[in-house]
Formats: sequence, structure tokens, C-alpha cells
Amino acid sequence: MTRILITGANRGIGAAMAANAEARGWQVIRATRAGQGGDVTMDVTDIASIQAAADALDGPIDILINNAGIIGPERQSTLDMDFDGMAKTFAVNVAGPLAVSQAFLSHLRDSDSPRILTISSQMSGMGYAKSDRIAYRASKSAVNKVMQGLATDLADVDIPVALIDPGWVRTDMGGDEADLNADDVAAGILDLAARLTPTETGKFFIWNGEERDF
Ligand SMILES: NC(=O)c1ccc[n+]([C@@H]2O[C@H](COP(=O)([O-])OP(=O)(O)OC[C@H]3O[C@@H](n4cnc5c(N)ncnc54)[C@H](OP(=O)(O)O)[C@@H]3O)[C@@H](O)[C@H]2O)c1
Repeated sequence: MTRILITGANRGIGAAMAANAEARGWQVIRATRAGQGGDVTMDVTDIASIQAAADALDGPIDILINNAGIIGPERQSTLDMDFDGMAKTFAVNVAGPLAVSQAFLSHLRDSDSPRILTISSQMSGMGYAKSDRIAYRASKSAVNKVMQGLATDLADVDIPVALIDPGWVRTDMGGDEADLNADDVAAGILDLAARLTPTETGKFFIWNGEERDF
């Protein structure tokens, strides 16, 4: 049975992926912050909490989904930046996914078919120059680079690492005006997770499975 660990699994896209994975008959490990009802508890900015969760978990993990993320501070313009908020955004959105991937690597190595997926954003794109929410945009560009590097470093052990653009999704983060339903996006991401092979490592995919440019 496929065993999947999802961070930020208590609401939004993470909760939708957890429900979809359960409906597929997969064993789901919901990673949440304390008090949110998860199967394992971690704050992705707290390395000790991530390591404690990894140490307490037995058995292989087939799919790790780095989903937890934040949009960042109110004041995040290049001309007027809340730098503490910017640092927090990078801690959650960039260092967090790498720290979780490192901590659970031994569980992934114990799987016959391990995969790592990280939820990035279309706002990471370097091909256009929009500047609103620049701390968030920059954090997603940075996590793309970090995960591309992880893909390179795990290529020889056949652990594919992929990045996902989930589109604009109706969640607390995406708001009510977003055009996509979290359940549809979750289903698309898990279809991709189920079929991802080592030959596709380091790629950036739209939630519907199409490859896209960085
Ligand atoms: N919604 C969109 O349109 C959209 C578009 C592009 C990319 N994304 C990305 O998709 C992912 C999920 O977004 P969403 O829309 O589902 O967001 P959401 O509804 O705001 O949910 C965010 C999740 O991340 C968790 N989280 C935040 N900080 C954390 C921390 N320090 N440690 C552990 N968990 C933490 C939250 O837990 P708590 O409940 O404890 O806060 C929550 O479960 C994010 O990476 C986001 O950047 C979303």
C-alpha cells in the first residue's frame, strides 16, 4: 500500500490531498502543527520538531509532499519590506521543505518507489516581472532552485524530486475568487505523484500533470 506524508495537511490543498489519498486506499500520514489533529506534529521552521517526528515514525514513506506554506507579511514590497516577515516566509517556504526532505530521507530510502513533490507556485516564474508579494514570489523561486538541486543530489539513488504549480486555488491563501477547486487540484497532484518516475526528476509540473517552464 502506498504510504504518503503530507505537510500542512489540516486545511486547504493539503487537507484535500489527504482526503483524496485516503479515498485511493493509501495510508496517509498527516503532518500538522501542534493542536491541528495530525498523525505527526511538526512546525516546518523548527528543525528539532521535524527530526522528532521523523525519529518517532516507523516504516517506509513512498511519497513525501511538501505542501505547508505561507503567503508572507502584509508589507512585502521591494520599496517597503517587513524583513522579519520576509525571513519567516523563506523559513517556511524554502528551508522548511528541504529540512523535511532531509529528515525523512531514510524513510524514503526504505521505499521501493520513493518520490518527493514540493508545492511551488506560478508566482515563482522568472519569465515575467510582476512585483506584488515579492517575498512570496522570491521564496517560491528559491524553493524551485533548492529542489532542483535536491533532484540532482538524489538522482543516483533514484528518488525523483518534482515541483508543482497548483494554479490559483480556493483556500484560505487563495481566497474565494480563485478559479480552481482544491479537490480537483489535489486529485491532479496525486495522479502525478502516483506516476512520477526517476526520469522526470527536477521538473516543474502544473497540477494537471503537464510540464511547465521554470
Ligand atoms: N491557494 C493557492 O492559490 C496557491 C497557489 C500557489 C501555491 N500555493 C501553495 O500551495 C500550498 C498550500 O496552500 P493552501 O492554499 O492550501 O494554503 P492554506 O490554506 O493557507 O494552508 C497552509 C497550510 O500550511 C500550514 N503551515 C503554514 N505554516 C506552517 C509551519 N510553519 N509549519 C507547518 N505547517 C505550516 C498551515 O498550517 P496551520 O493551519 O497550522 O497554519 C496549513 O495547513 C502552499 O505551499 C502555497 O504556497 C497555493
